[in-house]
Amino acid sequence: MILEGAPAGFGLPAGCHALTVTEVQHYTDRLFRFRVTRPASFRFRSGEFVMIGLPNAERPVMRAYSIASPAWDETLEFYSIKVAEGPLTEHLQKIRVGDTVLMRKKATGTLVLDALKPGKRLWMLSTGTGIAPFASLIRDPDTYERFEQVILCHGCREVAELAYGQEIVEATKNDPLVGEYAADRLHLYNATTREAYPVQGRITDLITSGAASKALNLPMISPADDRVMICGSMAMLNDCRDICLNSGLEEGANNRPAEFVVEKAFVD
Ligand code: A2P
Repeated sequence: MILEGAPAGFGLPAGCHALTVTEVQHYTDRLFRFRVTRPASFRFRSGEFVMIGLPNAERPVMRAYSIASPAWDETLEFYSIKVAEGPLTEHLQKIRVGDTVLMRKKATGTLVLDALKPGKRLWMLSTGTGIAPFASLIRDPDTYERFEQVILCHGCREVAELAYGQEIVEATKNDPLVGEYAADRLHLYNATTREAYPVQGRITDLITSGAASKALNLPMISPADDRVMICGSMAMLNDCRDICLNSGLEEGANNRPAEFVVEKAFVD
């Protein structure tokens, strides 16, 4: 198969779907989101990631992207960083509606509800584009079936970088499918580190100091009631993992559900 819009001669690589871009929205000079058509046969669990690429080479560069839309959605959403010399995002940031994006057929990942033991509260700790898997999970009714309270913590350098998460949370609270649950049970906790904002500081510091719990009127994270999902840079992951371990939580995986799970936010 020769792809429309692809340079002549490049076909569809084995194991890939060719998807059509249906929406593109730029938030800052570093961040944008896009939506693509969803193949009827494609299945995934909310919170998982897939490999994404562009049909611009015989062996296209593919990178891991968390799916930012829920498993029930008819289209697929992704939230991406733009890196000037990034092997993929240098080109991906220029996509327009109607363009083709490649996606490998298999979704995978550890930020799934099945990797956690039952609990009362689900904390989602994210920085930067690490919010993407949680944008999926907060729109999944299963999340509210399993947890009484869902706390999405998102830390960024600047205020404009918080916009994507704020829009999704607002839309989720008005969503016909999950709005009824999310309205009272989904809480967004935002902070910035390099620009003035009502809450300033790193998410990690705000949790350990007790400032986050105090603002949310919730107890400190404990193994009895709290489960945690973490997505961000490697340094952020390590610091958040330490917080969980120091709070007595055990790390889980798909085949061994426990009290917290981590995944790196994939950056070009
Ligand atoms: P900081 O400005 O202090 O580096 P980035 O855009 O580099 O991915 O960062 C996103 C956010 O994550 C920034 O607010 C950044 O804060 C914060 N951050 C970076 N490293 C850590 C860490 N180890 N723990 C918690 N937050 C972090």
